Amino acid sequence: MYTHLQRDASRSPVTLATLARMKAEGEKIASLTCYDASFAVLLDAADVDVVLVGDSLGMVIQGHSTTVPVTMDQMVYHCACVARGTHRPFLIGDLPYMSYPSREVALTNSVRLMQEGGVQMVKLESGGKQTDIVEFLAGHDIAVCAHVGLKPQSVHKTGGFRVQGRERETAVRLLEEARRLESAGADIVLLECIPATLGKTIAAELHVPVIGIGAGPDTDGQILVTYDMLDITTGRKPRFVRNFMAGSADNLEALKRYVRAVKQREYPAPEHCF
Ligand code: KIV
Repeated sequence: MYTHLQRDASRSPVTLATLARMKAEGEKIASLTCYDASFAVLLDAADVDVVLVGDSLGMVIQGHSTTVPVTMDQMVYHCACVARGTHRPFLIGDLPYMSYPSREVALTNSVRLMQEGGVQMVKLESGGKQTDIVEFLAGHDIAVCAHVGLKPQSVHKTGGFRVQGRERETAVRLLEEARRLESAGADIVLLECIPATLGKTIAAELHVPVIGIGAGPDTDGQILVTYDMLDITTGRKPRFVRNFMAGSADNLEALKRYVRAVKQREYPAPEHCF
């Protein structure tokens, strides 16, 4: 006999319209990653607004040293697990490494994440070259999140997990990329590991919600890898991670404290920023 997961289906689901309203009204968007149904139920109960089935699962679930080995079938499997556990949060699924090399392949794989995985939006690591793909997906009415800044799928090319946009030239390029991706139809822009000043500029310039991880306090929302903020992962944590398990009685309390800290602008604090 096992515990049957209970999900609360009484609250209205978060939609893109909800997120747009939150940006307009200055209410911060609290987001976390998730990879399975049990955590999905907890994140939903904690009132997390956006849940991302991130390809970070390659590192925190599968034990790889990068996200590169994660496959499309694995993403579909984890998205479906999470979708069965969530009701209220807006659900995003990551397109894994090389699953969007062309418009047609990106479309086929996005449809898989939505139809088989049950997500409402797909996320792809985006730079200049992916603008065309974002436009193509958006043209097929697929909700798209464009991931800008540190792009973990490119670490072998870019030389590791490093803060991006410290130099003026790179900062200008990242701002331009974010603008172009919004114009191409991205509905959310996610910024990873950039200076707080650049995060603030991009969030102020764009009309769509901008969610940051290590991008400072002024983005429209925050996201963390759940296993990091619950202190499940061992080893050296990135500077922007806060351990919400410290001082919490259980996982649910820690998740609720994270949501509260984001909404009340207590997280991220200066020590979590670049
Ligand atoms: O894969 C992932 O979990 C992500 C987050 C770190 C934003 O992209």
